[in-house]
Amino acid sequence: MATVEDTILIREMTPDDVNGAVELSYEQEWPHRHEDWEIYLALGEGLVAESEGRIVGTTMAWRYAPTFATLGMVIVANEFQGRGLGRRMMEAMLGRLAGCTVLLNATEAGAPLYRKFGFEPLGRIHQHQGTARMVPLAQLRPGERVRPLGGADSDLAHLYDRATGMGRGKLFESLGRSGSAVVLAQDHVPVGFANMRRFGRGWSVGPIVAPDLAGAKALASHWIGAYAGSFCRLDVPADSGFSEWLEEIGLPKVGEVHTMVRGTAPVFDERCRLFGLVSQALG
Ligand SMILES: CC(C)(COP(=O)(O)OP(=O)(O)OC[C@H]1O[C@@H](n2cnc3c(N)ncnc32)[C@H](O)[C@@H]1OP(=O)(O)O)[C@@H](O)C(=O)NCCC(=O)NCCS
Repeated sequence: MATVEDTILIREMTPDDVNGAVELSYEQEWPHRHEDWEIYLALGEGLVAESEGRIVGTTMAWRYAPTFATLGMVIVANEFQGRGLGRRMMEAMLGRLAGCTVLLNATEAGAPLYRKFGFEPLGRIHQHQGTARMVPLAQLRPGERVRPLGGADSDLAHLYDRATGMGRGKLFESLGRSGSAVVLAQDHVPVGFANMRRFGRGWSVGPIVAPDLAGAKALASHWIGAYAGSFCRLDVPADSGFSEWLEEIGLPKVGEVHTMVRGTAPVFDERCRLFGLVSQALG
């Protein structure tokens, strides 16, 4: 006899599925707005699980050259959980990503499922958020300057590639359309940048790429000070030293996810580090 699970169709996500996807993320109390899902879909690919016309599951992935991808927005509607739907969607998405190293940021709920697919721990990400307060001006070192992104700043995507160990050019370009960036320059040479964009309940600062913690603080201070009074969020690597400073300036840690990898982990350039993620899903 056919079970409910047999009648659930796993198919390609289209823009028409975004309303249903937003309902799923709201049910999990995730902050993603319709626009956030739309941007994710425009940048990547998704699968949905559909039951009697209703979206009851989602999984998304984003490819980065040469052979990397991140996977995220893995959600199964509460009433459908524990029946193998998460596994079915993961099998289908990982099949599409064959040959890629896949990275993801796992919640407590997601980690057991990912372990079953051979994902291994790589690090931790701290989620910080709250109402931004005025911050003291960052102490810049001689020759350093934080300035707006200029038309001639063509090398920044390359910094992002080095900090993540994978090609982020397309994502960087898209961030330019959906937000603003400031650049950290040392003796007029760009060495880092930070983006700010609308996301979820307020504003998100990220990605943040800098040569060191002092540079990352200078970049983040710019945005946090500029958006004092607004709700701001940052997702930062736990081992970056950034978390402690964010606590001090009044943006507490509210959660933690575990970065996991399946395949050969990307190699980062230690002189050009990622201090803030664009988002947990995009990595
Ligand atoms: C994580 C999630 C997608 C799993 O979906 P699901 O449909 O309930 O998972 P499945 O029923 O397909 O389970 C797949 C396997 O993982 C195991 N599993 C799933 N959740 C588990 C848990 N909390 N603890 C232990 N094992 C778990 C199952 O036992 C199953 O193993 P099996 O196939 O060997 O029997 C779902 O719980 C969910 O949407 N959670 C909330 C959103 C979330 O946190 N998503 C993860 C984001 S990173």
